[in-house]
Amino acid sequence: MRDLRRLLRYVRPYRGRIVVAIFATVLVSALSAISAGAMQPIFGLVFHVGSAPRLSLPGPFRDLGPKLLNRLPESFASDPIMLLSVVALFLLLGVILRGIFAYLQTYLMNYVAWAMMRDVRDDVYAKLHTFSVGYFRRTPTGEVMSRLTFDVDLSGGSLLMFFGSFLKEPFTAVGLLVVLFLISWPLAIIALPCIPMAVYPIVKFGKKMRVRGTVIQERRAELNTLIQQTVSGIRIVRAFAMESYERLRFAQKNAGLFRAAMRITRVDALTSPVIEVLGFGGVLFMVWLGGYLVVRGFILPEEVMTFVVTLGLFFQPVRKIGKMNNALQQGLAGVRRIFEVMDTVPDVQEIPEATTLPRMQEGVTFREVSFAYDDDRDVLKDVSISARMGELVAIVGPSGAGKSTLVNLIPRFDDPTAGVIEIDGINIRRLTLKSLREQIGMVTQEIILFDDTIFNNVVYGRQDVSPDQVHQALMVANALEFIEKLPQGVDTRIGEDGVRLSGGQRQRIAIARAVVKDPPILILDEATSSLDAESEEMVQEALDRLMERRTTFVIAHRLSTVRRADKVLVMHDGRIVERGTHEELLACGGAYARLYQTQLVGVGRQD
Ligand SMILES: Nc1ncnc2c1ncn2[C@@H]1O[C@H](COP(=O)(O)OP(=O)(O)OP(=O)(O)O)[C@@H](O)[C@H]1O
Ligand SMILES: [Mg+2]
Repeated sequence: MRDLRRLLRYVRPYRGRIVVAIFATVLVSALSAISAGAMQPIFGLVFHVGSAPRLSLPGPFRDLGPKLLNRLPESFASDPIMLLSVVALFLLLGVILRGIFAYLQTYLMNYVAWAMMRDVRDDVYAKLHTFSVGYFRRTPTGEVMSRLTFDVDLSGGSLLMFFGSFLKEPFTAVGLLVVLFLISWPLAIIALPCIPMAVYPIVKFGKKMRVRGTVIQERRAELNTLIQQTVSGIRIVRAFAMESYERLRFAQKNAGLFRAAMRITRVDALTSPVIEVLGFGGVLFMVWLGGYLVVRGFILPEEVMTFVVTLGLFFQPVRKIGKMNNALQQGLAGVRRIFEVMDTVPDVQEIPEATTLPRMQEGVTFREVSFAYDDDRDVLKDVSISARMGELVAIVGPSGAGKSTLVNLIPRFDDPTAGVIEIDGINIRRLTLKSLREQIGMVTQEIILFDDTIFNNVVYGRQDVSPDQVHQALMVANALEFIEKLPQGVDTRIGEDGVRLSGGQRQRIAIARAVVKDPPILILDEATSSLDAESEEMVQEALDRLMERRTTFVIAHRLSTVRRADKVLVMHDGRIVERGTHEELLACGGAYARLYQTQLVGVGRQD
């Protein structure tokens, strides 16, 4: 219920519509009740064919019947067919009016529910963008997508239920209950115990629905994750001929979803029949009792008929409440999952008094920085570095030494577990994330391009540049040569993940993106070993131009880069074990010298 109340906060902006909808709902319910009561005169006329026509109205309005009849013209009042037609028309009018208000109510409630879903989705999405990279490392993509889609839909559905039926049905039930009492209060009192009998399964089943609803959402998310992973990793699946394995894995998860759905269906499908059986039993009993009372002359047959029909109508909303409650409880499972996301505290946060960093002037400093991923094993230990403005810092070391981890701390993808990183002497935690990240350009091993035009991919992050500047940047990046051959030049769309471009071409677009951004700090995770000699040269040239006048951290695999570096940092097992220039390090014959023999010489083809 607390979750629901919180969800209702999203509804507040649409108060006005809700008030109108509730008003319509009350009218719908009242008209339902009046229509039910209006059946009594019809039954009265039909049951007493032969005797003088009468206008039999429920209980307290009993005396009103003859009075109304007296007001009518004689020809009218004495003609039972005429009377029947009038009452029937009255009923028809009531039903039409009820229809109009029901439309209004449904439309408005749907409006509110969809508006709320839109707002919640916007909020969850905005919230996702406050999370650190770490959150996405821990949470499978499919899970994230599932929360934004299935769970929001589900909670919107539950809200629709809440407004659409949770108000209407109880109102209607109450209205009909009132009619029951008006017709014959003693009968109504006898019929009352049916209500708790009908309500009990509603509550009981509702609880089960919520628990099982959570399971079904979890299964959906798992399935989503699996699909997302195999689709994005399709090349690997194909390369390793793992189709049948993946099919099996999918089938297992899918069967899990099926089982969860059936578990919930067993409860859901049972709700209506149970309520119906209980309700029908009650109605049948009332027919028997009513018949008995009519025979004994305690009560009029039209009263019994109207009562029994109204009782039957009464179980309609009660049964719906049961179903709605199931849906609502299931929806709450979605609501809970949404608020879980909303309540997650981002682990990389901007402090409230964060300052804006003007363009970097001096440089970047690491002071005794340590870092551990979620498993608490220190991946970086006591790392201290200083890189002055314009310097080229090459980081070398064996795979898994912590090179990528180290550079990812500069844009605060993660925060160090100990120590500080400073830019121009200011702890980067004190800077706004925006101004910090504006200082940094990254070209990494995995080039991420969006499914958009080349132009838009290049200006990503700097929307204010002119086509001329983009042209310039593509030239610097050595990318013009292949782009000019494309059918629509820079306006060519590249497929998802840029699959229609080669590795080297993608890399050059990423370089152009960094050129356009023109950041004072540059982070390069060199990955040119997969390129052929010619495109490697192209990329290298582009990178060389990009590095000019910037502080560059480059994870270097090539001798040419390391040689030119102002500083070479040799990393091993999370520590910087040696530092100096290429010549100095080579001369001291330590870890770098060994690395030089095994790694750098082999890769540095062009030297
Ligand atoms: N998301 C993660 N969660 C936990 N541990 C991680 C994570 N990413 C990396 N590591 C660990 O951190 C260590 C350093 O990884 P890192 O990616 O920084 O190495 P690297 O020096 O860049 O290696 P390479 O040259 O292969 O790219 C490795 O031991 C790795 O197992
Ligand atoms: Mg790496």
